[in-house]
Amino acid sequence: MAHIIVLANQKGGVGKTTTTVNLAASLAAMEKRVLVVDCDPQANASSGLGVDVGTLERSVYHALFQPQEAQQMIVETPMEYLHLLPSTPDLVGAELELSTLQHREFILRKIVQGVQGAYEYVLIDSPPSLGLITVNALCAAKWLLVPLQCEYYALEGIAQLMNTFSLVQQRLNSSLEILGILLTMFDKRNKLSFMVEREVRDHFQELVFSTTIPRNVRLSEAPSHGLPAILYDIRSMGTQAYITLAQEILSSAVLQREAQAQEG
Ligand SMILES: Nc1ncnc2c1ncn2[C@@H]1O[C@H](COP(=O)(O)OP(=O)(O)OP(=O)(O)O)[C@@H](O)[C@H]1O
Ligand SMILES: [Mg+2]
Repeated sequence: MAHIIVLANQKGGVGKTTTTVNLAASLAAMEKRVLVVDCDPQANASSGLGVDVGTLERSVYHALFQPQEAQQMIVETPMEYLHLLPSTPDLVGAELELSTLQHREFILRKIVQGVQGAYEYVLIDSPPSLGLITVNALCAAKWLLVPLQCEYYALEGIAQLMNTFSLVQQRLNSSLEILGILLTMFDKRNKLSFMVEREVRDHFQELVFSTTIPRNVRLSEAPSHGLPAILYDIRSMGTQAYITLAQEILSSAVLQREAQAQEG
């Protein structure tokens, strides 16, 4: 059984996709079998992993309507241990199309359950909204990882997400838990980053990962080469931070407990 982690924050541009791709790549570099599920019509995780979404015949969008065929839609990436269920822009239509279906919140869960057996980690990237696709992603996962950009309104944005998290937990997916909040784009030349970090750590305490992701241009360049940063510039600060995050996740007590419970 895989650890299934959804990366969500309805705020755009906070580092969901960068974290999905680079955490997945770091885990894969440690020879963990990882599946990335791209649930964003922008398909940034797919193109960032070298997939030309323009030429794809089928994607997670088609899997929503043919869940039993999802396995065949999984593609390889530049890393041996890292596979991808890609997205295509037509996923944008799913928001409406799904709304008429029965059990519409649980379609992605069915897909993920069907394919997760071959993996140790499944990371689900979600779009910047709290619509039905994101709700599907929250229902498909056991763990929520919240990337939070070190900027002024960080805490206000997160209140709405925590609200959605509680609603989903109460009504749709009682097993959903917060794996952690990840501070991203930390700029050590900017006093604001330190202030936001202090505020978020004071407020959320042990829910915040010890690892902080620095603002690092290599992380923003790598996707244009279709590569995770670890294959683009392994020595960059950004790559190293995601490797540290992967180590923190590997040694996470809650995930170890989950693995033991699954074995037992
Ligand atoms: N640590 C970082 N340092 C520098 N640039 C970064 C970093 N993290 C992300 N970026 C850049 O910031 C932009 C937004 O990041 P990303 O796409 O990961 O956010 P997102 O939350 O997935 O966005 P969206 O909500 O649109 O899906 C991208 O151009 C990305 O390359
Ligand atoms: Mg994204």
